[in-house]
Amino acid sequence: DYDAGPYVPEDAGLPDLRRAAAGCEGCPLYRDATQTVFGAGDPAARVLLVGEEPGDREDRRGEPFVGPAGRVLTRAVEEAGIDPDDTYITNAIKHFKFGRPGGGKRRIHKPPSLRELTACKPWLQAELREISPEVVIALGASAGKALRGSSFRVTRERGVPQPLPLPGGEGSTMVATIHPSAILRADEEREAVYAEFVTDLRVAARLLR
Ligand code: URA
Repeated sequence: DYDAGPYVPEDAGLPDLRRAAAGCEGCPLYRDATQTVFGAGDPAARVLLVGEEPGDREDRRGEPFVGPAGRVLTRAVEEAGIDPDDTYITNAIKHFKFGRPGGGKRRIHKPPSLRELTACKPWLQAELREISPEVVIALGASAGKALRGSSFRVTRERGVPQPLPLPGGEGSTMVATIHPSAILRADEEREAVYAEFVTDLRVAARLLR
């Protein structure tokens, strides 16, 4: 089955992990994507932010959260009292998954399957082990499922600190919230959705020692 495991060098630091991830063929998503988008930020960060997957822009730039969702995220993180420089940011899967509806040019995001989330998890676990953050913030359902399994539900678990039952995550506490893209998609209720997002992030900020 799909599995990034064989591509992940053992006991490697982040620079070696990043180099190896560039050549990952653990699932078929590498075929249509431009490049692997590995995590970015301070390796000594106390906060690990986990998104879903790179978008169109991230795919072309090779960096996570460089588009509109990233701008909302950075603003909310700061407002919640977390220094953006004290974060490392990555995604549950490292390649952009998309379709071209109608056979056009536009690449439209498709959410990862559980199979793809599971296949890519060895990269996330390696990042978690290397960063060993105090707090892991899961942004949305895909991140939550990658970190806690398929029974994860954002609506039920958001804003509630939980232990992280993963190798490398023993010293970390997880807090889930919505994906920042959900704020961009909300129209009339956008301010309320944003405020609830900041409230969840404040829960994470208070956990920092
Ligand atoms: N959304 C994500 O989940 N990750 C990114 O890197 C960009 C948008």
